[in-house]
Amino acid sequence: MTTVRVRNLLIGLLVLLLLGGVGAWLFVYFGIYNVAATRQHIPPVYRLLNYAMERSVIAESQDVRAPPDLIEPQRIRAGAVHYRAHCLQCHGAPGVAPDSLAYGMTPAPVNLMPAARSWPSERIFWIVKHGIKMSGMPAWEYRLSDDQIWDVVAFTKGMAAMSPREYGQLVLELPGGKADAGSGGKRPPDDATARKAEPPATLMVANAARKAPPGVATGPGVPLGNARVGQHKAQAFLCQTCHQIPGVVGANHYVGPPLAGIGTRTFIAGVVANDPQSMVRFLLDPQEIDPLSAMPPMGMSEQDARDIAAFLYTLRTP
Ligand code: HEC
Ligand code: HEC
Repeated sequence: MTTVRVRNLLIGLLVLLLLGGVGAWLFVYFGIYNVAATRQHIPPVYRLLNYAMERSVIAESQDVRAPPDLIEPQRIRAGAVHYRAHCLQCHGAPGVAPDSLAYGMTPAPVNLMPAARSWPSERIFWIVKHGIKMSGMPAWEYRLSDDQIWDVVAFTKGMAAMSPREYGQLVLELPGGKADAGSGGKRPPDDATARKAEPPATLMVANAARKAPPGVATGPGVPLGNARVGQHKAQAFLCQTCHQIPGVVGANHYVGPPLAGIGTRTFIAGVVANDPQSMVRFLLDPQEIDPLSAMPPMGMSEQDARDIAAFLYTLRTP
């Protein structure tokens, strides 16, 4: 190549770079990227952010060494106490939905069961200690000692294999143990009552605050809501943190069954026939349909359930 051609090539590249820069600046300046938490990231941005987070955590946690006693029951119980004080509000627990403050956060605080299964303890430790920028995940470095963070990690790993019933049992065995409160913020009446109730009934006490108000009209012929509104509401109620859902960004979690094709499935939760009425009832109160269901009631209104059900019935291809 002659020097003239090399020079032209370099000038061309420089102009392209400049145009790209100006374009990016105009994109930002005119506020084209919507930062509303009710709008999900577009899929490429979501994937890039998630990937960057994973790579960073892997790189940064290289030197962390886990203590050998993470499966000791004492650690797990101590961790459960910290978890319920500091993590439950955002991440929920087996059979317990997060608090209402977590609804509508973007990125949505994920259900931790998949991470607890697949991420090594060292990485979970690093995340809990240092937090994650621009995500709402706080750093606990200055509020929990390293040893307490390892307790939390021990509990989080243990939780990955706990059913709602086992979790409810563990909580009752904790000092001053009460069943967890639902998003209504109402604690169960008192310790004695909570203790008398058998898990998972304790979880049902805990979740009572989230249930549909009595007398909700879920009779036959009750119309479904608006599917487009329902798609937005599904995101706001964090359905994507437990289910794979077509058309919902970030819905790549398998805590519950994938919802692709739910519109044509014969049964809901394998126990009742799939009709709109039962779907609305299931969304308002999963345990009414299936007492052992690991899906917590999310404190939605009847209208929310109708809108979300309408959206679910648009998912017809498995
Ligand atoms: C104020 C809400 C909030 C609280 C409280 C909170 N987290 Fe988070 N956490 C988040 C958000 C938001 C994310 C980022 C979600 C994502 O990965 O996209 C996150 C991410 C995580 C992750 C990474 C999960 C993954 O698969 O990407 C772990 C592990 C985690 N949190 C553990 C904890 C633990 C343990 C506690 C308690 C000590 C806690 N968090 C408290 C909001 C919270
Ligand atoms: C904390 C995790 C979690 C969240 C959040 C959650 N689910 Fe579930 N869901 C589950 C689990 C676990 C099951 C399977 C248990 C069962 O079938 O009872 C399930 C089952 C279902 C089913 C029945 C699926 C089938 O194949 O029969 C539907 C429908 C459903 N969920 C919809 C939703 C919707 C809509 C939302 C948001 C409003 C949501 N879920 C939020 C965990 C969750």
